[in-house]
Order: sequence, then structure tokens, then C-alpha cells
Amino acid sequence: MKDCTVHIKSFGCQMNKLDTALVASALRDAGFRLTDDVKEADAVLINTCSVRQHAEDRVFSHLGHLKHLKQHRPHLVVGVIGCMAQRLGSTLLEHEAVNIVCGPAQIPQIAEMLRQAIARSDEKRLAVIEKIRQETPRDGGDLERFESAYGVTDEQIPHQAFVRVMRGCNRFCTYCVVPYVRGPEACRPPEAILEQVKKLADAGVKQVTLLGQTVNSYRYDDGGRTWCLADLLEMTARVPGIEWVRFVTSYPADEFYEQILQVMAGSAKICHYLHMPAQSGSDRVLAAMNRHYTAAHYLELIDRARAVVPDIAVAGDFIVGFPGETDEDFAATVDLAKKARYKNSFIFKYSPRPGTTADHRLADSVAPEVKQWRNVELLAVQEQVSMELSRSFVGRRAKVLVEGPSKKAHVNPAAVQGGQGTCDGSENESCRLGIESAGAGLQSTTAGASTQEDSVQLVGRTSTDSIVVFHGRAALAGCFAEVRIVKATPLTLFGELSRR
Ligand code: 5AD
Ligand code: SF4
Repeated sequence: MKDCTVHIKSFGCQMNKLDTALVASALRDAGFRLTDDVKEADAVLINTCSVRQHAEDRVFSHLGHLKHLKQHRPHLVVGVIGCMAQRLGSTLLEHEAVNIVCGPAQIPQIAEMLRQAIARSDEKRLAVIEKIRQETPRDGGDLERFESAYGVTDEQIPHQAFVRVMRGCNRFCTYCVVPYVRGPEACRPPEAILEQVKKLADAGVKQVTLLGQTVNSYRYDDGGRTWCLADLLEMTARVPGIEWVRFVTSYPADEFYEQILQVMAGSAKICHYLHMPAQSGSDRVLAAMNRHYTAAHYLELIDRARAVVPDIAVAGDFIVGFPGETDEDFAATVDLAKKARYKNSFIFKYSPRPGTTADHRLADSVAPEVKQWRNVELLAVQEQVSMELSRSFVGRRAKVLVEGPSKKAHVNPAAVQGGQGTCDGSENESCRLGIESAGAGLQSTTAGASTQEDSVQLVGRTSTDSIVVFHGRAALAGCFAEVRIVKATPLTLFGELSRR
């Protein structure tokens, strides 16, 4: 496919970003050229998210633009991959812009599909969406082979990489589409994960984030030995060159929890950060969501984490306006948010997803304006907690891994402070990152000024996932730096590079 150029647009969570990076690697290997400029592309791939309606609406609006583009360039090939492709299947081919539909489990076939679609100028409509089945990574399923073949680093942030340790989810929270579009849980073999981490470390990667929808449930039975996430964390931290290891996202459950906390406490390389969504603070709502814990048990898990790892930073997710959520239920959520003392939390308005149990059985009964009000209210509570925690960093030194120059300088802090972790239903992790990088992009007028001529505003993260903005050389991207914190906002710390 010499001279064929492909533009890939990615929506959605960290899993999707990883899939996008894998697809990009595979296409490069197959001889395609990748471009950031849609105008020079022969094909456009959209990697999609289905977790909330808003995420799907954004994809349809993008397809609308592509439809216009195709009026002038009828040979442009458009492919929809990922969760929406799985959910909507070949009905997506009815959209005038779409030529290819490919579910998440079929991405190993994408290069071949593109090849065929580009070659056939007459009938260019192809779909590969198979019924989701149990993956068998142990026997080297297609996805496992694909994943192992293309170890990828984070293209945006130097020296960092994501490694998937499990696919799918078995939890079936009643509101969630993930088990339907990503299929049942399948844990990758530890040796495949280790090999991948070693390759990444050899390529200069310093920070690895282990990914799974419920990453703390990782379990792999290997002829007598059972591996859990704690084993993977230790194993990854021992790989020469790897300095920091993270993991997301955790489900509030007892199994393996103690082991995970103990390895965190025992290794400086395992970042003291836990993202463990509560979703609600009302036991009645938690039961209706099919979350297998009570608010009290959830808070006990957090207390336990703080007892074993005293400086641990905890982040959470909430859904407001779940069917039937009363003022009393919401008050219980506010209460939990105050008690949990999250570093930050991500707040989503309930979005009914077709095919889920909640959508089948429960009316979307909370009015949009009530959802909005609860969202704002919870945000205000969280912001106060975040501010208190952020303030405690002022005057201290922090080790950060520098991500690079801040992308959005000169943003007025007041304009974004109200936006902490809120999300009106756009895609999940990218929403998190989007908001956080908006925070990270704040230009400090009082902090971090440097007299060096080549100094730019940089963004880094502490091991506890706090965003730190300071001035320094752009070449520090991908390096560790020590920063003295001089100012704090709820989501962002501002500092000065320490000169020792
Ligand atoms: N509506 C709103 N938020 C949702 N989430 C998952 N499904 C839905 C839905 N139907 C949120 C949960 C989850 C995060 C990734 O997205 O809070 O933790
Ligand atoms: Fe969705 Fe997470 Fe529940 Fe799995 S555990 S069903 S991914 S919310």
C-alpha cells in the first residue's frame, strides 16, 4: 500500500487510545503512511466510544463532515472501528460516509480491509463485526498476537507507555455498555506482559501504565500458580529502566486488594495512586447499578488504602441522575465524596445506553436540569476537597515526570476551575485527560517564572498524579525533575524547577 495515507481520529478511553496506537503501528508495518492532515488522506479511520450518547453524537457529527468532504473526494475511504462499530454493526454502513465497519476484536484485520476498500472503487462497503466471543490469549488468539506484535509507546508523552493486562469486563453494571462491546474478561499471560514491558524499557520507556477495565481483578492461573495484579506490578517494577508503574481502573472489591496495597507500600516505583470509582454513595442506587458493595464498605476500602499507603492519592467517578435517584440518594453521594477525600473525581450525567439492563428496565426518570444541578453541586464539593489537598503541597518539593511543553498556555485559571472533572457525557478517559490537560495548560502569572531564555512552560505529573506546571527547557520532556511547589489550584500545582 505504498503511498496510501491514512488519518486516524480517536475518541474515548485509554483502551481506545491504545487500540489506536496499535492500529497505527500495524498500518505503518503494512506500508501505509499516517498523516495528521485529513486533507491529504486516502482513508480516514475513526476509533469510537459508546460509553455515553454524547460520545456517539460526536462521532456522527464527524461523519457528517466527512460526508461533505466525500462530495469533492468520492474515493476517500472512511472506516469506523471500536465500540460504536461493535454496538451499531452494519447499520453504520447505511451512513453515506461509511465504507468500513470493524469491531474492536477484529482490528487485526483492519490493514487488509483498508487495502480492499481502497482497491475497489465501485462497491466499497465492508463490515467485520463478529459476535463477541471469549478471547483465548493463552492459545494466542488474534488479538493477543496483534497486541504482542506491536508494542507501542505514548506518541504524545515521551518515555511513557500503556500495556493492556486484560480485555473486556464481566461486571455488567446495569448502566454500562462496555461488557457488550468489549466482551467478557480475558487476562493476558504474565509472560506476554513482561516481554512487552521489557521491549518498551529497551526502547527508553520509564513509566508504564497497566490497563484493564477492572485491572485489580487481574487473575491468571498458570499450572498451579495464580498471578494477580500485585505480581504484575512487582514484575514490571523490576524491569531495568522502568521507574514508575501505574494501573487503572480499579473496581472496589476485596479480592487481591491487600496484596496490591502491600506492593504499593513496599516499592517506590509503584505510584501511590488509586483510581477507584464509587459511582454513587447511596446503597439503594448502588444495588440498582449492580455494584457489589455498599457505601460503608467502599469507604472502608479507602481507609485501608490510606492506612497501608499513607500518601496515596485516590480518584473516583460518579454518575449523577441514575434512574430513580432521589434527593436523599444524591445527598448520600455528596456525603461519600466528602468522606472519600478524592484528589479529583469525574462526574458524569447518566446516559441511557441501549441494550443495557438499566435501559431495559428503568426509565431515565431524573430530569435533565436536575442532573445538571447535581453535577454542578457535586463538582463544587469535590473542588473544595481538591483545593484543600492541593494546598498541602505548597512549599514542598515534588518529583515529577515531565510530559512536555504545556499545550494551552495563557488560559485564565478562573475560567476552568469550575470545570474540574466534570463531563457532560463525552467519552470517558479522554474526557478525563482533556479536562486535566486543560488544567495543566494554565499559564501561571505568579509562579514558575524562569529567567532562562529557552525556558517554556512545562507540564509534569507527580507519582500521585498531581499535575505540576513550571518553567524549564523543552528538552526535559520525558525526564524526571524536582519542582518546588509555590501555588495551587484545585487541579494544578504551580512550581519552580529546583536547582540543587
Ligand atoms: N452514563 C453515564 N456515565 C457512565 N459511565 C459508564 N456508563 C455510563 C453511562 N451509561 C461512567 C462511569 C465509569 C466511567 C468510565 O464512565 O462513571 O466509571
Ligand atoms: Fe462498565 Fe466498569 Fe462496570 Fe465493567 S466495571 S461494567 S467497565 S462500569
